[in-house]
Amino acid sequence: MISLVLQKVRSVRHRVAIRFGLRPNGREHILRRAPKGAVCAEIGVFRGEFASHIVRITRPAEMHLIDGWWALYGERYPDWGAYTDYGRLGTRQAHDEAQEAAPNAILHVGHDLEVLASFPDRHFDWAYLDTSHTYGQTVAELAMLSHKIKPGGLLLGDDWHDDATHTHAGVSKAVREACASGEWRTIVEGDEFAQWAIRLVRPHSHHDHSKQSVRSGPSKLTQYQQHAAAVSGSRLIGDVRSFDRARHNSDSDA
Ligand SMILES: C[S@@+](CC[C@H](N)C(=O)[O-])C[C@H]1O[C@@H](n2cnc3c(N)ncnc32)[C@H](O)[C@@H]1O
Repeated sequence: MISLVLQKVRSVRHRVAIRFGLRPNGREHILRRAPKGAVCAEIGVFRGEFASHIVRITRPAEMHLIDGWWALYGERYPDWGAYTDYGRLGTRQAHDEAQEAAPNAILHVGHDLEVLASFPDRHFDWAYLDTSHTYGQTVAELAMLSHKIKPGGLLLGDDWHDDATHTHAGVSKAVREACASGEWRTIVEGDEFAQWAIRLVRPHSHHDHSKQSVRSGPSKLTQYQQHAAAVSGSRLIGDVRSFDRARHNSDSDA
């Protein structure tokens, strides 16, 4: 009961902060769990606010910042309220601010699944995921990252909400399913800043899914398992190019 009330308070605080164009302070504490001097990625970067925390706290040896910027939204962001200056914020400005926040980072402009697919498997020691927060997109990202993060590596992320009515409830649902698959292990199931952390314990193997298909039939595979099975090495999963911009930050598939 107490934890539900605390969740609700966190959720309201989060919504209020976003409403006024702010991200709640304190969420960078999750970065203390990340290894220092490592190879990392932030997926969903925007203006680089969190990227500056990553630089300060983890001092990466190699840092990749991945975001759609103008490739997803054109020259100006949609009107996401104060967060995008009511649609006046330029995507190139946000990109340049991110580069300033992390001068040594390599920036990648494009749909995250396409960009991630271009990396060799097991490239990253850890990553921070903060993109659309929709269920379907998060499922696909977790499946892709199960190939691109090293076994034993960490995935951290934003927007954990247990309240099923929250617009971003799809993240916790997708992360729980990924952990239930046995490939990831839960480390933090939403702290007081809605941050979460999971560890890759067993990288995806096609063998696992073919065994499961024989046992229970392909229709019994979870959405996470179907995506993980579809991602092979650096090949793209089938629906990457069908990304619909209008669904960004919506709860339509959560
Ligand atoms: C909440 S903002 C990221 C904020 C940033 N992590 C921070 O805390 O400073 C979400 C970002 O994800 C990006 N994004 C959403 N869906 C994406 C996708 N499929 N591929 C690449 N970027 C995406 C958006 O362009 C947006 O900049």
